[in-house]
Amino acid sequence: MRIGHGYDAHRYAAGRPFILGGVRVDSDFGMEAHSDGDVLCHALIDALLGAAGMRDIGKMFPDTDIKYKDACSLSLLSEVAEQIRSAGFDVEYADCTVIAQKPKISPYIDKIRESLGAALGVGADRVNVKATTEEKMGFTGKLEGICAHAVCLLSE
Ligand code: CDP
Ligand code: ZN
Repeated sequence: MRIGHGYDAHRYAAGRPFILGGVRVDSDFGMEAHSDGDVLCHALIDALLGAAGMRDIGKMFPDTDIKYKDACSLSLLSEVAEQIRSAGFDVEYADCTVIAQKPKISPYIDKIRESLGAALGVGADRVNVKATTEEKMGFTGKLEGICAHAVCLLSE
């Protein structure tokens, strides 16, 4: 077994799409980013790469590369899952925490688990997603942005 951890954060900006785990969330603000700003996919990608000993998302998809402008992060996650399988690993389980004061994520959790499971090539029952606030403290609490943590277990 191999364990991996990933963390990512993005600033909020008005008029940007709010995409989490490949799912469009209803919100009048979204994430500022070179890509689609899907903080959950980015944290999960880093967890997978970490467990596989394959560096990190910035190394694999440089944000200076025009190819990744407004990139669909869920597709990047699929690509990473494929590379990890090619390297001889299987995704056993992933657990993620999204930290955001707003918007409310719970209505979207089932859809997000389905979406991430499909990208990873495993069932939704192998990906858990939860959300919490930081009680109005810090950058998430002041609505400056959002962050996510992910851990995963790979078998070889
Ligand atoms: O301290 P606790 O996590 O119980 O309270 P909270 O941060 O206010 O979150 C309460 C519940 O709201 C969480 O357990 C999540 O199910 C949900 N939540 C959410 O759906 N979307 C968020 N952005 C934050 C929390
Ligand atoms: Zn990111």
